[in-house]
Amino acid sequence: MQVINSIKEWQQIKKTLNNITIGFVPTMGNLHHGHSSLMERSVSDNNLTILTIYINPTQFNHKEDLANYPKTLEKDQILAKNLGVDYLILPSYEEIYPDNYNFRVTENSEYSLMLEGASRTGHFTGVLTIVLKLLLITSPTRVYFGEKDYQQLHLVREMAKAFLLDTEIISCPTIRNEDGLPLSSRNNRLSEIELKKAALFPELLSSNLVSSAVKTELESVGFMVYYIEEYEGRRFGAVKLGNVRLIDNIRMNI
Ligand code: PAF
Repeated sequence: MQVINSIKEWQQIKKTLNNITIGFVPTMGNLHHGHSSLMERSVSDNNLTILTIYINPTQFNHKEDLANYPKTLEKDQILAKNLGVDYLILPSYEEIYPDNYNFRVTENSEYSLMLEGASRTGHFTGVLTIVLKLLLITSPTRVYFGEKDYQQLHLVREMAKAFLLDTEIISCPTIRNEDGLPLSSRNNRLSEIELKKAALFPELLSSNLVSSAVKTELESVGFMVYYIEEYEGRRFGAVKLGNVRLIDNIRMNI
């Protein structure tokens, strides 16, 4: 695996790569099995796999969240190499945002304003802007996203259509721990007791209870509930346990 510290360097290499399929996995690092599943899929689908690790400041709503975002570069690098990733790109803010975030991708439908968009103002503008920039930098044949961030996945798909991007958007199933909790970098911030309790969230979300009852049940055992909402055959939820915000979604059996 070759590690590239500047976009210019990457663009030079890219020119030499012809007639090959490129898979791309965008991440913010602190890699876990969820990310591994995306890298593995990309390695098996494509001739080359690119991973980016970039903690994108424009998608964070709180400065502390950004400052506390876990950084495990050394470990991440070993994992990516072992999984067969060919290039790991680690861009800087100056390279990614030469305009200091003056130009942005916004989505104008109600979809980016509901669920995560309602609780996190500007979040999806930050996500769509960085994803577009990373797709332009890497020009991949395929890009891989997990279904855990379902709204993000859907918006990226719509953006790819809107801007006629020549990249296939591949969705991969949510990877869960043995108790059913979706894997997330945020889980590391839960205490052992909270981690056990957190499993109630996916359990209730996927139960036959109506959404309002799921919310009541979760609140009664100490979760702070941002939303439990159904949309186009899926049930979405966001909760806070201790200081940690968790999201999940499941396809409903209807
Ligand atoms: O899902 C994530 O980790 C981030 O939102 C992404 C897609 C890497 C953009 O910063």
